[in-house]
Amino acid sequence: MYGKRIDGRDFDEIRKIEAKIGIVKSANGSAMFKIGDTIAIAAVRGPRDLYPKFMQNPKSGILRCNYNMMSFSVDERIRPGPSRRSREISLVTENALMPAVNLEEFPNAVVDVFVEIIQADAGTRCAGICAASLALADAGIPMRDMVCAVSVGKVGGKIVADINKYEEDYEDGSTDMPVAFLPRRNEISLLQLDGGIKKEEIIKALEMARKSCEKILEVQRKALMEKYQNG
Ligand code: CDP
Repeated sequence: MYGKRIDGRDFDEIRKIEAKIGIVKSANGSAMFKIGDTIAIAAVRGPRDLYPKFMQNPKSGILRCNYNMMSFSVDERIRPGPSRRSREISLVTENALMPAVNLEEFPNAVVDVFVEIIQADAGTRCAGICAASLALADAGIPMRDMVCAVSVGKVGGKIVADINKYEEDYEDGSTDMPVAFLPRRNEISLLQLDGGIKKEEIIKALEMARKSCEKILEVQRKALMEKYQNG
C-alpha cells in the first residue's frame, strides 16, 4: 500500500502551479505553465492562411497542435524530432482544445499551437494543454471556455491527483489517467487511461480531477488578469 506520498502531498493534492502569459514575443499568443517540476511553454501563430490549399476548410479555421519534449527535459537525452508518442500527444492536445475554440470567423485558416516541454516530471500532456489554452486566449482566439488538465490515477492502491514520475514508475506500475475539463461547460475533452482501475475508482479519480481543475483554472485566470491589468 502507498501509505504516504513521496513528496509529502495529500492524496488529492496537486503540485505547486505557476502560469505566465506572453513569454514568446514573436508569437501571437504564448504562455508558460508549471506544475511541480513539469514545465510547458505554448506559442500560438495565426490565424493565417492554410497551405497546401486542399487542407483548407471553407466553413471554419482549423487548429493544428505540435507537442515536443526538448532533448534536455529529462535526465536521459530525448532524441530530437517527431516520435509515435509526440504524434499521439499532438493529436490528443488538438482534440482536447478543439471544443473550447471557435474558428468559424476564420475560414481557410489555421491556428498553430506549438507546445514545448522544457522540463518533464510526468503530466506533460496536461501541462501542455493548460499552457496552450492560455496561449490561445492570449492570442485573442475566440474561446467558449478555458481548458484545464491534470493527470490523476492509482498508485499502490491509492487514488491520487497529479501523478509525478516517481509515482508513475511506482513498484510494479501505476494507473495514469490524464483528464482535460472545460470548466464552464462542465465537459471532458480528454480522457485517457494507462493501467488498470475499477469503475468506482474511475468515478473517484474523475471527481478528484474536476476539483484539481478548479484550482488550475484559478491560476490560469489570475495569469490572464495580470497580463491585462498590466496592459
Ligand atoms: O508526460 P505524460 O504523463 O503526459 O506522458 P507519458 O508518456 O505518460 O510520460 C510520462 C513521463 O515519462 C514524462 O512526463 C517524462 O517525465 C517521462 N518520459 C521520459 O523520461 N522519456 C520519454 N521519452 C518520455 C517520457
